[in-house]
Formats: sequence, C-alpha cells, structure tokens
Amino acid sequence: SVVEEKVYRSPIICILGHVDTGKTSLLDKIRHTNVQGGEARGITQQIGASFIPVENIKEQTKAFAEKVKMEFKLPGLLLIDTPGHESFNNLRSRGSGLCDFAILVIDIMHGLEAQTIESINLLRMRKTPFIVALNKVDRIYDWKPCVNTEFKEAIKLQSRAAAQEFDSKVKETIAALAGQELNAELYWRNKDIKNYVSLVPTSAHTGEGISDLMLVVMQLMQKRMIEKVVFTEQLQCTLLEVKVIEGYGTTIDVILVNGSLNEGDKIVVSGFNGPIETTIRSLLTPPPLRESRIKSQYIQLKSIRAAMGVKIVAPGLEKAVPGTSLYVVNDDDDIEKIKADAKKE
Ligand code: GTP
Ligand code: MG
Ligand code: NA
Repeated sequence: SVVEEKVYRSPIICILGHVDTGKTSLLDKIRHTNVQGGEARGITQQIGASFIPVENIKEQTKAFAEKVKMEFKLPGLLLIDTPGHESFNNLRSRGSGLCDFAILVIDIMHGLEAQTIESINLLRMRKTPFIVALNKVDRIYDWKPCVNTEFKEAIKLQSRAAAQEFDSKVKETIAALAGQELNAELYWRNKDIKNYVSLVPTSAHTGEGISDLMLVVMQLMQKRMIEKVVFTEQLQCTLLEVKVIEGYGTTIDVILVNGSLNEGDKIVVSGFNGPIETTIRSLLTPPPLRESRIKSQYIQLKSIRAAMGVKIVAPGLEKAVPGTSLYVVNDDDDIEKIKADAKKE
C-alpha cells in the first residue's frame, strides 16, 4: 500500500515580552531588515507577520546545523511580532492565542519586568510552549562582540569579568523565573525540555545566539510538536486587524493557520452588526523575509496555503471584528449555519 507522506505547514511563532526588550530588533536581525528603525518612537503598535523560509534558516545556521546534524522537515517559520507596551494587552493576547509556540524575550540586563510576567501568564493560560531569548548580551560589561556567532563559541572568547557577569545575570533570571513557578535552564544544559524552559542568550545588535535561537525553535517544533503542524485543508483563519489601504479600500489582515484561501472564495466574517458575507477580490502577502506591516511590498497571489500572514481585499469589510475566525463557504456548505457560527464568536 502507498504510505501517504505528511505535509507540514510552518509553525506560527509569537514573539512576546516587555517593551524594548528587542523583539522587533531580533526579527530585523533574522530578516536583515530595519522595521524597528521605522517605528514611531521605536514602539511597536501592531501585530506583524513574517515568513522565514527554511532555505534561509539553513543558510543562517549552516555551521551550527552541520555540527548537530540537524535535519529540517518544516517549510519555514511564520514569526509574529507583538507590542510590549503595557497598553497593548489585547494584541499580545490575540497573538499568543493563535500561535503554536512562543519566544519570550527578556532583556538580560533588566530581568523580569511587568509585561514579561503578563506574557508568561498568557502563555500559561493557553498552555503554549515557549523558550526565552535572553537578549542584549552585548550590553554585558566588557563584552567582546563576536558577530553572528553561535553563543557557546562567543562566550569562550569573553574576559573572565564578562563571563562572570553573564553567569550571574543568568542565575538571577533563573531565580526570578522560579519565583513565577517556572523551571528554566540554559538551552545546552537543558536535558528535560518538557519541564524546563530553555534560555537562549542573544544579541539583536551583534548577532550572537541568533543561529542558536532559530535552531532551538526548529528542533523543539520537530521533536515535540510536529503533529501539531500537519497541513490540513480544514480552514483555520484568524482576523487580526481591519485596515484602510489606499487603492484597496478596507482590507483585513488575517493569519492563515491551516488550509488555503483563493481569490474568488466566498467568505463569512463576524461583523459588529452581524455576520458579513463577501467575496475575496485579492489576496496579498508580504514577500518572504518581509513584514505585513510594510505597506508597499505586497505580492498578489491567486491562492495561498497555510501558514501565512495574508491581507484580504474584499467589499464590505468595514465592520469586521478583529480577533474572530474567518470562514470559507464552499458550494455544498450551509451558509446560514456558517453565519450562525460567525455570530457566536
Ligand atoms: P516594543 O515592540 O516597543 O515592545 O519593543 P521591542 O521589544 O520590539 O524592542 P526594540 O526592537 O524596539 O528595541 C528597543 C531598543 O533596544 C532599541 O533601541 C534597540 O536598538 C535596542 N536593542 C534591541 N536589541 C538589542 C540588543 O541585542 N543589544 C542592544 N545593545 N540593544 C538592543
Ligand atoms: Mg517591537
Ligand atoms: Na521598542
């Protein structure tokens, strides 16, 4: 008999953490972009989605991946940037609600802060597995930059004082996480990934630990969560934001978690005045390694498969409700039943 090969979608990875811990900067480092530099006052105010193709991850982690004989089974990662500012709890909640996995970013010099703890509680509530990026290691006193180097190599090249400060910051963070009833350990010492959160030291400025971060996420997804990211045609799609875009009118930004969307699909979304029935006029997505928040860069596609961040252009979306599900109406579907489901959201 023919064994059917499983097809995997990209896992959806949410980046969470206190304001200015370096979430957007880490993404910029991975994408080779400068989204952070374009933000008003350097503050993220929206959710952004970027697709990182596996070819790019292989390239960026080459030396390290060969050493650990890493085999890549997933098509890439869909990374979701969220704001850390306290006033955006709704966006953190929405982002953490739709992801498969999360990266909690902590500033190694500051340790746990208010929105770190808020993020931990969101992840715990939803039982979302996560790792911690201990960012800004380059801020450690006397740190010698080792550009884009695997962290374990970089730490070997540091002075005694820098290595000691690193150790004491790690110890403080582990103790503070224990105060939140979380076991944590540096990822290369972590022999119990089920019960201990892995800490990955990084610098979004000088690039130490970036390859580690990508490989640790890939490895965890492949070892522990691969069944969760099997591609299915069963549509799972969450509306993130409603936006007016010049030339397109009112559009909606969605995260396509599973299934696919096609130009011309009849869709139903929840509206403030009841369910909205409309037809997809265009499907737009940012190119790989670019972000949904950067407006000028969209590419238009006839069909998009999960997982991906998608902008949908369709008439009548003005009153669509962020945070709700989107439904596709197929020929043999009962539209009244779908509308009733949309109304319950
Ligand atoms: P919000 O989205 O507003 O919550 O902030 P964020 O977590 O995305 O942080 P952001 O990327 O805006 O970075 C905040 C500041 O820290 C910026 O000035 C960055 O240049 C700086 N920064 C980020 N990562 C690093 C790092 O690894 N090392 C150093 N030295 N500075 C960093
Ligand atoms: Mg940001
Ligand atoms: Na910021």
